[in-house]
Amino acid sequence: MHPSRRPLIAGNWKMNTTLADAHILADGVRQELEHEEKVDVVLCPPSIWLGFLAERLGPGKVAHVSLGAQNCHPEMKGAYTGELSTEMIKEVADYVIIGHSERVQYFHEKPDFLLHKIEAAFRAGLTPILCIGEVEQVAGSTKKLVQELNHIVRSLTHAQLEQLVVAYEPVWAIGTGNVATPEYAQEVISLLRTVLTEKTRILYGGSSNDENARGLLAMPDIDGFLVGGASLKLKSFVTMVKIADQLA
Ligand code: PGA
Repeated sequence: MHPSRRPLIAGNWKMNTTLADAHILADGVRQELEHEEKVDVVLCPPSIWLGFLAERLGPGKVAHVSLGAQNCHPEMKGAYTGELSTEMIKEVADYVIIGHSERVQYFHEKPDFLLHKIEAAFRAGLTPILCIGEVEQVAGSTKKLVQELNHIVRSLTHAQLEQLVVAYEPVWAIGTGNVATPEYAQEVISLLRTVLTEKTRILYGGSSNDENARGLLAMPDIDGFLVGGASLKLKSFVTMVKIADQLA
């Protein structure tokens, strides 16, 4: 972490939780993290629960605990069955995850499509969390990643790049327990930063939890986490935020 950037920890619940689970988890996070005001906390439940949770955590409710969607469509409205526009999301959330590797892998989302989604998020006043990460750790994979990121963000203004949140999520580390070492994550993230700005918040994602959070956050370019599995466990998630708050 670096004192010039506000830490951010986002929980990506993916396609998990019943409505009752979602309420319990969100209420728990809100209560347990009432005083951890130095960290921006973002909960990304399945979109169908956003409207319910927005009554307590939606735009303008709690300054440092917000909601985010897990995906959006770049068009404002129209014949796109099953999709949600950023204008719709804006009514109930402040953030949106874009380009998660599961969307790239299972739904074949392409870089230009991701750029259009980022632009749509900014148009609606949402903060996009753009995910990027190599599938395998092979020679040249980091260089390729930097080029990929550069291509996706190529038409964004400097001000938009400052506001953008990027999550570096090596695909081999997601849901595997095979977390990247702090040194490796730092090295890749510092290179990703060369095509962003000093103000851009860059998160690490991939098997992060309450046990490895401190080591990762000790790195100067890691500004927080995009958490999958551990975000479904109240105690683990809350502990991660508390560690970030202590270090901030
Ligand atoms: P994980 O998922 O923390 O369960 O590895 C991270 C993510 O997919 O964002």
